[in-house]
Amino acid sequence: MQIIHSAKDMHSLSKLLRVSDKSIGFVPTMGALHEGHLSLVRRSKEENEITVVSIFVNPAQFGPNEDFEKYPRHREKDLAMLSSVEVDTVFMPEREEMCGKDETTSVDIGALGNILCGVARPGHFNGVATIVAKLFNIVSPDNAYFGQKDFQQCVIIKKMVTDLKCGVNVIMCPTVREADGLAMSSRNVYLTEPERKASAALYKALCHGREFILSKRPSAPSAVQDEIEKILKSEPLLNPEYIEMLKPENLEPTGKIELPVVICLAARIGKARLIDNILVKEEPSLPDDCAL
Ligand code: PAJ
Repeated sequence: MQIIHSAKDMHSLSKLLRVSDKSIGFVPTMGALHEGHLSLVRRSKEENEITVVSIFVNPAQFGPNEDFEKYPRHREKDLAMLSSVEVDTVFMPEREEMCGKDETTSVDIGALGNILCGVARPGHFNGVATIVAKLFNIVSPDNAYFGQKDFQQCVIIKKMVTDLKCGVNVIMCPTVREADGLAMSSRNVYLTEPERKASAALYKALCHGREFILSKRPSAPSAVQDEIEKILKSEPLLNPEYIEMLKPENLEPTGKIELPVVICLAARIGKARLIDNILVKEEPSLPDDCAL
């Protein structure tokens, strides 16, 4: 496994791979890796000749009162995990190179960045889009793999790729969950034991929401929101932030529920903020079947 630190070296390698006609699969991450990340790597390895994983904790996507300094960093453990799944190249750039002090150019994703998580995290998605655009320029992947867990992020990256003609195929992969349904996340380490237990209510609520839609066929989103809220509120530690029903392709609100629909939610619990989502389609073949 090759570890590359400079954009110049990564650029040279991707040029070389292009010349030799090798397909490049790319998995951008912020490290503190878990099975969710590894599932993206495995998918990339299945579908590409070369898989590149980046590890970079991107300061531009953290707000002033967020956890940039505290964000978990486990370099050696991450590298061991990536080596165990036989990643070809790990790109670990320096902050100075990726976010230079003199840089004045950035990606503005527009309205999609101001809804859902963008309300509580202003500027977050522009920070994500900007770093992903830089990484795409450096790595030049054919295919890039993102998790459904961050549904809004996937839709935003797809939109950016379309608008900026990046020529990268963006693939959304299913959410990997703990045994009780909690979506794996690098930030789950912030949860205390009681908070960790209470957090299982998110997925439980989403599954109930999906069953409610499929069996009762309500037309008003508020009927489903009420059902979901009841379950979330049954855990006093959880503070729901939003529960939204949206069109999966563009995150536009559904006035009247029409399938397919994605239910997205966020809740605060202790020091953590958790997000999750579920797709509701006519005949869901799998509990978390991706369909973007
Ligand atoms: P990070 O949170 O490290 O996530 C990297 C990728 O792993 C994202 O595509 C995310 O959706 C995916 N992922 C995280 N948890 C997952 C789970 N439980 N199941 C499946 N996939 C999961 O997302 C980011 O980093 C950053 O915003 C990044 C795109 C790297 C830009 O800085």
